[in-house]
Amino acid sequence: MEDVYILAFESSCDETSVSIIKNGHEEIATVVLSQMDIHALYGGVVPEIASRYHVESITLVIEECLKKANMTMDDITAIAVTYGPGLIGSLLVGMQAAKTLSYLYNKPLVPVHHIAGHIYANNLVEPMKFPLMALVVSGGHTEIVLMKDDYEFKKIGGTLDDAVGEAYDKVARVLNLPYPGGPLIDKLSFEGEDTYSLPTPLDDDSYNFSFSGLKSAVINMSHNEIQRGNPIRKADLACSFQNRVVDILVKKTIKAMKEYNVYNLIVAGGVAANKGLRNKLTEECAKEGYHLVFPVMKYCTDNAAMIGAAGYYAYKLGRVSDLTLNSKANDELK
Ligand code: KG4
Ligand code: ZN
Repeated sequence: MEDVYILAFESSCDETSVSIIKNGHEEIATVVLSQMDIHALYGGVVPEIASRYHVESITLVIEECLKKANMTMDDITAIAVTYGPGLIGSLLVGMQAAKTLSYLYNKPLVPVHHIAGHIYANNLVEPMKFPLMALVVSGGHTEIVLMKDDYEFKKIGGTLDDAVGEAYDKVARVLNLPYPGGPLIDKLSFEGEDTYSLPTPLDDDSYNFSFSGLKSAVINMSHNEIQRGNPIRKADLACSFQNRVVDILVKKTIKAMKEYNVYNLIVAGGVAANKGLRNKLTEECAKEGYHLVFPVMKYCTDNAAMIGAAGYYAYKLGRVSDLTLNSKANDELK
């Protein structure tokens, strides 16, 4: 069969990224331009600034990616693009670039859901084996998704309020850590001990999550300590918070694996980089005999390589679109 080269675009938040992926698993070239340092000045992503930087850098990122791959547009089979969810102004920049190239070079246009991208980042590690359970943990999503085949997504549970990455970032702000705080809390947690008494988030029989109560407990606790003039032991608080989060994520995921009789587990999204989560899942999966895959660290957070991997399977399934395709700030995983 002829090789398929997907040129992929990701611009849903504050990374401008373009990648070329061969046959859904082989990375030819990827360029990720992060705006993190700029947004860190404001303590979070500023949408208007993000879209402006995407506009400034997108053509350079495309050129650099093709150059790195030593390829031209003639070598490309199809163009995949994150259509949503995400920041609408940011999404539109990648979308416009993808549509323009699709029109100019007469290449099929393949829309990809951002979370499908995070899930298929695992396919860059090894071929995904079905049925599988996907634990999706990012700045905008926290879901347990059952997949019986490519693009068959069945959500069996999700967060009722904050996404897990969002909770990390909000707690980090209270601890005066710069944006994005997730990786810093993760690092700090290994320097501290689980000494703070924090509530366990939504420990019920469902596969849903709730992190806002835990987040508020951390915020209230630190405010109270400050008012009493007591120093906050940041590393201990980070450790206590991370343990509550990781414990419930792992507990509900393993329970879902058992109930649905699934032996393959993949983790997806920015929080898949979390070392506490990686350690605990690795331990529990070894105990249960489950096959566990994580994306490589650099492809846990937003990148176009994952969109290229997801785009290949979408293309194979005929999920192509005409040029009326538009970006969507919100959309169900499909
Ligand atoms: O997937 P992603 O790049 O963007 C979304 O699609 O949301 O995820 C970003 C999120 C941020 O909230 C960031 O703090 C979190 O992932 N994150 C982490 C870690 N690395 C990134 N959270 C906890 N521990 C980490 N090591
Ligand atoms: Zn993401």
